[in-house]
Amino acid sequence: MTQSLKKTKPRKNSAFKHLMSIHWWMFYCYIALFIGGTLMARLPRELIGRNLLYDFHKSVGVLTMALLTWRILTLLQVWWKKYTKRLPKYSPEWMRKVALHTSLYLFMWAVPVSGFFFSNSFRSDNVRFFGITLPDMFPQNSALVDLGRNIHFWLAYTFLAFIILHGIDQRKVVKGFWRRINTRRIKSS
Ligand code: HEM
Ligand code: HEM
Repeated sequence: MTQSLKKTKPRKNSAFKHLMSIHWWMFYCYIALFIGGTLMARLPRELIGRNLLYDFHKSVGVLTMALLTWRILTLLQVWWKKYTKRLPKYSPEWMRKVALHTSLYLFMWAVPVSGFFFSNSFRSDNVRFFGITLPDMFPQNSALVDLGRNIHFWLAYTFLAFIILHGIDQRKVVKGFWRRINTRRIKSS
């Protein structure tokens, strides 16, 4: 019985569950980054507390970089467990999924790096991780600040477009969420 369950649900191994748990933690971080980032960029410069929002945005951005490293190591573990047993079938469906997931990984790396480029170009020692000043990745250069802002802006919103595409691709899971929320609502009313 257990054997046949293992055969029918090979994706549910512990490394994959671990990968998906990092996936959802990072998802919460991205919600905070997108909502916070969009808001703070539109606040008046003289507003008290605006700098705190910037520091929080940068800290959560750096946190996603640390989680990304952990996620890539876990993904390698998942692949190792899976593909040392059996190579994938290189179907168009598999290729499409790999291309979309690879693009998402590239954005998860490039968006925070562009944030560093923007912040470091503006002023050195400008990125703090919950109070700890981090070393600069890029030299200070006021001529590149506008370029940095544009790159961060466009990469962030293109990333968002790919996330939406991925959400559409996983629409069965989204429908499942709604069903669960609705069932809970009906039960509690
Ligand atoms: C915040 C942005 C998101 C990013 C960057 C992202 C990225 C990814 C990536 C790269 C994978 C492949 C597994 C991995 O390497 O982790 C994946 C898997 C998955 N994602 Fe997302 N995702 C996001 C949001 C969502 C949302 C909103 C949903 C809701 C439906 C979702 C549902 C799933 C599911 C169900 C899988 C597993 C697919 C499978 O079995 O192969 N993701 N996601
Ligand atoms: C995946 C991680 C990140 C995401 C998704 C993200 C997303 C965003 C978004 C959506 C905005 C608003 C852009 C606008 O509407 O003008 C923004 C602004 C900003 N981000 Fe990020 N960000 C990330 C990481 C970082 C990091 C690591 C840093 C710095 C080290 C950073 C620094 C900034 C700054 C300084 C702004 C303000 C831009 C302005 O005032 O025009 N971000 N970010």
